[in-house]
Amino acid sequence: MTELAPAHRPVLVVDNGAQYAQLIARRVREANVYSEIVPHTCSTEQMLAKNPLAIILSGGPSSVYAPEAPGVQQDLFDAGVPILGICYGFQAMANSLGGTVAQTGLREYGSTDVSSVGNSRSILDGTPDHQKVWMSHGDTVQQAPDGFEVLASTVSTPVAAFANEAKGLFGVQWHPEVKHSDFGQQVLENFLFRGAGLEPNWDTGNVIDEQVAVIREQVGDARVICGLSGGVDSAVAGALVQKAVGEQLTCVFVDHGLLRQGEAEQVERDFVAATGVKLYVAHETERFVGALEGVSDPEQKRKIIGREFIRAFEEAERKLAAEAGAEGKPIKFLVQGTLYPDVVESGGGEGAANIKSHHNVGGLPEDLQFELVEPLRALFKDEVRAVGAELGLPHEIVGRQPFPGPGLGIRIIGEVTSERLDLLRQADAIARAELTAAGLDGAVWQMPVVLLADVRSVGVQGDGRTYGHPIVLRPVSSEDAMTADWSRLPYDLMARISNRITNEVDGVNRVVLDVTSKPPGTIEWE
Ligand code: XMP
Repeated sequence: MTELAPAHRPVLVVDNGAQYAQLIARRVREANVYSEIVPHTCSTEQMLAKNPLAIILSGGPSSVYAPEAPGVQQDLFDAGVPILGICYGFQAMANSLGGTVAQTGLREYGSTDVSSVGNSRSILDGTPDHQKVWMSHGDTVQQAPDGFEVLASTVSTPVAAFANEAKGLFGVQWHPEVKHSDFGQQVLENFLFRGAGLEPNWDTGNVIDEQVAVIREQVGDARVICGLSGGVDSAVAGALVQKAVGEQLTCVFVDHGLLRQGEAEQVERDFVAATGVKLYVAHETERFVGALEGVSDPEQKRKIIGREFIRAFEEAERKLAAEAGAEGKPIKFLVQGTLYPDVVESGGGEGAANIKSHHNVGGLPEDLQFELVEPLRALFKDEVRAVGAELGLPHEIVGRQPFPGPGLGIRIIGEVTSERLDLLRQADAIARAELTAAGLDGAVWQMPVVLLADVRSVGVQGDGRTYGHPIVLRPVSSEDAMTADWSRLPYDLMARISNRITNEVDGVNRVVLDVTSKPPGTIEWE
């Protein structure tokens, strides 16, 4: 198991449920302080064994009065480690230390005004007396515990933030980790740098040197294989391993013919040029398009693509293993681009190998007899991009939008054929080029371009009537793809994309914009 070298003592983020812990951990890292997430079932002893610099208790869905509410162990507050309680964590801290938490029946949800009270600014230092913050709570702290100063209140919450500077204990009722809290990052940084006295001395630059050492140690002189998908994670993982063990690594790229325009070349030409990696390419377009013939059902498509991918990868691996046999060195390790969210979501990933399971199409079977090398296990996506850039990977690879393993196969609604793939590739290339030309790549999380191959409608193009297919543009904004909103891109950009697609792509006479959030709509159409 590869872990980040213990050079960094972490700030521990205790996950009290809901989805806040990952965001908090990211914000702490944005402040250049290393953070790790632990479940609320982690005992004080287990937490202290990690030698934390500070602890943040996250929000969560429970009331401190609920019988199953995550408990905070009393002795945590006596451990001498600075602690920040957020929302539920704030209430749990108040409750544990003798304050009063009331079920007032008054909920505060969404954007809320808070006002500073008292003389001490503490973790609100440098923020205005009145500020907008994001709230989501039912219970309310009515009275702070002895020794705590009240820092802020709202119309319905007398104690919205408190501090006990001497003990290094702090709390806020709101969510400083969400962007809707105007000075949220400032409050978090005040806790880290003032409250806990930390230094901002962690960044992704450290990761490369540490991981190179860890990989060398793990792999020794064995051979390693890495499947490249064209995506960011596998490219960065492969590049790191290449830097660590060079010639011992062979990357395998199964070109299933379902990638977007220019993406196979990015792997075969640009990635190799940037890294000097040994690459084996399996050209398998015909195999995949052949296997998809006559299939419209999305689940079936995913199964077929997944099955063929595994077969193709195994064939490639057998070939490489046979070569390896001659040199006497078997392939012992498989590189996986597992990221920190995958590790957290699968319960911390202690021990057992964690093959990406959420979207397992394009993943590998669990019975491959390899030990895993997972150099990105401690990183969030944006950190992976930073590491990739530092390793010299081209911007087109590290800045690439998330793209599903089954590729354009699930962005054609209806049967997948070579002609339809070409058509969608053209439309997608136009949309991407215009987005980039408008300087708005950063404005979206991703923008799937979808071909409704089963739908036709009437149009007038040139001199005649046409009966063509619609293309759907699905630009979304998101932080983690679990939820998303449709991106309000400028209409003139939408107009340019629409004009170009209907003019340049034969068979398309209509472009529509998807204005659905997730939920209820997923990001991909399928
Ligand atoms: P949905 O459509 O579920 O997608 O809202 C959430 C995110 O996951 C991506 N996605 C996939 N990624 N293999 C992948 O590696 C897949 O089969 C797959 N299906 C969806 C999608 O692009 C979005 O970022």
